[in-house]
Amino acid sequence: MKRIKLPTHVAFIMDGNGRWARRRFRPRAFGHRAGVQNMIKVCSHAFKLGVRIVTVYALSSENLSRPKEELDELFDLFRSYFGKKRDRLTELEVKVNVLGDISVLPEDIQESVLEVVQETSGYTDGLMNICLNYGARGEIVRAVNAAVACGRFVDETSFKDLLSTAGLPDPDLIIRTGGEVRLSNFLLYQAAYSELYFSKKMWPEFSKRDLERAIENYSARDRRFGNVKGE
Ligand code: IPE
Ligand code: IPE
Ligand code: MG
Repeated sequence: MKRIKLPTHVAFIMDGNGRWARRRFRPRAFGHRAGVQNMIKVCSHAFKLGVRIVTVYALSSENLSRPKEELDELFDLFRSYFGKKRDRLTELEVKVNVLGDISVLPEDIQESVLEVVQETSGYTDGLMNICLNYGARGEIVRAVNAAVACGRFVDETSFKDLLSTAGLPDPDLIIRTGGEVRLSNFLLYQAAYSELYFSKKMWPEFSKRDLERAIENYSARDRRFGNVKGE
């Protein structure tokens, strides 16, 4: 990869698993399985390149209204990757955190998620946020209610501390695969000045090289944050 300005925090909207599978005449679950494997490959590469924080959108709050059969397949995948295959995650040697309301997920999954979070809590070189039953509007409303419950006004800094990303820098780069050009309720507050990158590739086929291309593209952008271009 060329000399580049590296993003500190990269977030992925990992979309397109179902279509990738359908094109191969396989069930959607086949796409989700390939998707998780690719998540580990691509995230591992991101950390290797020097990205410090990676956030992945694995399940949105709206996804919970998908048919039960698909949800069961997704839950089985979570069960497996936070359970007996958890070494695939822990071998990344980064701290794993989960964003979103996991309290509605099956209890055994909640327990293994918390175990993985605990097991990886000592890693300080990288952080991987896995968004499970995450929705940005819900996150914002919860934060507002938390402020109201304490009877205090917030400013932009203290409000951020009430979000699930408290203490973290906003994503510098958000990459969405699958060809759609939207955020689908992902990090709406935090994305105010994120650079957005959309790939037509389906998530299971988004490669390490594709990630490098996205970062190279990011690196060439001029982030002005509302100001005038620095000389
Ligand atoms: C993204 O892939 C993964 C999840 C939302 C869980 P999709 O399942 O949305 O795949 P497409 O968009 O239907 O191809
Ligand atoms: C966004 O993908 C959510 C995840 C990738 C987890 P969706 O497939 O749910 O988004 P829409 O429905 O196309 O907006
Ligand atoms: Mg989709």
